Amino acid sequence: MIVDIKIDPRIDTISMPENLKVGLMIANARKACNGKCDDDFAGFAFGQSPFHVPESLANALARNANKGHYSEAEGIPELREAVADFNKRHFRLNVDSSRIIIGPGTKDLIFTVFSMISGSVIIPTPSWIGYYPQLKLLGKQYHPYKLRSKYDFKIQPDELDDYLAKLAHEKTQHLLIINNPHNPTGQVYSKEELSEVVKVCRRHDTLILADEIYALSTYNVENFTSLGLLYPEGAFITNGLSKDRSAGGYRLGSCILPSCDSEKLFNDFSKIAATVYTNVSTPTQYAAVEVYRTNEKIDEYLKITREIHRMMGWYFSKEFNKLEGVVATKPKGGFYFYADFNQLKEKLNKKGIMNSNELGQFLLSHPYHVAMVTGDTLMLSPDDYGARIAFVDYNGKEAFERYKANPPKSEYEEIEFVKNNAPMMINGIDSLKAFIEFLEK
Ligand SMILES: Cc1ncc(COP(=O)(O)O)c(C=O)c1O
Repeated sequence: MIVDIKIDPRIDTISMPENLKVGLMIANARKACNGKCDDDFAGFAFGQSPFHVPESLANALARNANKGHYSEAEGIPELREAVADFNKRHFRLNVDSSRIIIGPGTKDLIFTVFSMISGSVIIPTPSWIGYYPQLKLLGKQYHPYKLRSKYDFKIQPDELDDYLAKLAHEKTQHLLIINNPHNPTGQVYSKEELSEVVKVCRRHDTLILADEIYALSTYNVENFTSLGLLYPEGAFITNGLSKDRSAGGYRLGSCILPSCDSEKLFNDFSKIAATVYTNVSTPTQYAAVEVYRTNEKIDEYLKITREIHRMMGWYFSKEFNKLEGVVATKPKGGFYFYADFNQLKEKLNKKGIMNSNELGQFLLSHPYHVAMVTGDTLMLSPDDYGARIAFVDYNGKEAFERYKANPPKSEYEEIEFVKNNAPMMINGIDSLKAFIEFLEK
């Protein structure tokens, strides 16, 4: 009789992602008090687009609901073509659809890249919370690369050169992750900065995983450069519907394969897709064609949503910087910034808050109720008191409609817009002020 199911020990090396756990806890608490909580949380933890699914996407999904057949593992040809056109239009990438793979979200596509590439992975830290657990699950070797505030949390070509030289003894291939715009710091690389990094990668035969999921949420979108333009032979480029088109639950993303050896990579990728999940939901793929093709409504949607992200990001980053002892990055894209609490280390320790994870737990608890992602989840060392602040806890549809009807025309109106549309996060700032006062006592 089986009394104890033995689980592969690799499963114990990962835990439920902190942002999902906290996000779910807050959603349940809000549900329980029917949206009228006396003592609500400020949800700076969960990074989901607050906006509605674009109408044309939702309508297209309904229209295609009867497409119940299995599809090609790599994605339907119409969608792969549409993704190729989309990349040409937005990023000036001349990529044939034969190099494009559709997958169930970029998270899964990234997992596939990690699983098929031999060698080790370099993760710049602080990092998006998703890469590290995937590598643990796969039992893959990885190397953290510390990003520093004095360099705007960007990879420095000279440092990278030394770093890769030191890894040469491994005699294996390396894959460097570049997430641009960056989650959690909100920083965006210029074309020149990326070109220098690419030169170093070329010199060391290092591949790049270019996670560009926030590309079209770059506030000054003209400033975004895709690595597909600079390193076509060595970069895997991932992007999808989750962030700029607010359809995370649709689970649809794309990966552009490096031009070097793309046929072999394509066959390997499709083989894995067919083995693991067969294909991305067929109706979803047909619906997605609608929002990859030229579409004025989507262009307007992208413009409005990125403007609202910018206003929220700049306002809250400024408010965090006003807190005594806190230094926050000013985001240039996406919907996160990074807050550094290290100047408060002594005061935190005096109150028994001994590491960054404990800071997150303390702020989540009564009376502060402020949720943010801290510590291990961002791959920070325990004595590094940093936090990722997501600024998306508001009713996106309402904010969108208000913006469309009456876009703010001055800095004053922008501040008023934020205050009127994001009350929960405004309360969160008050809670943080109370926390800083408590540390002073
Ligand atoms: C930096 C980054 N990469 C990838 C993803 C995964 O996105 P999805 O799997 O929804 O496409 C996310 C989602 O939070 C992210 O922030």
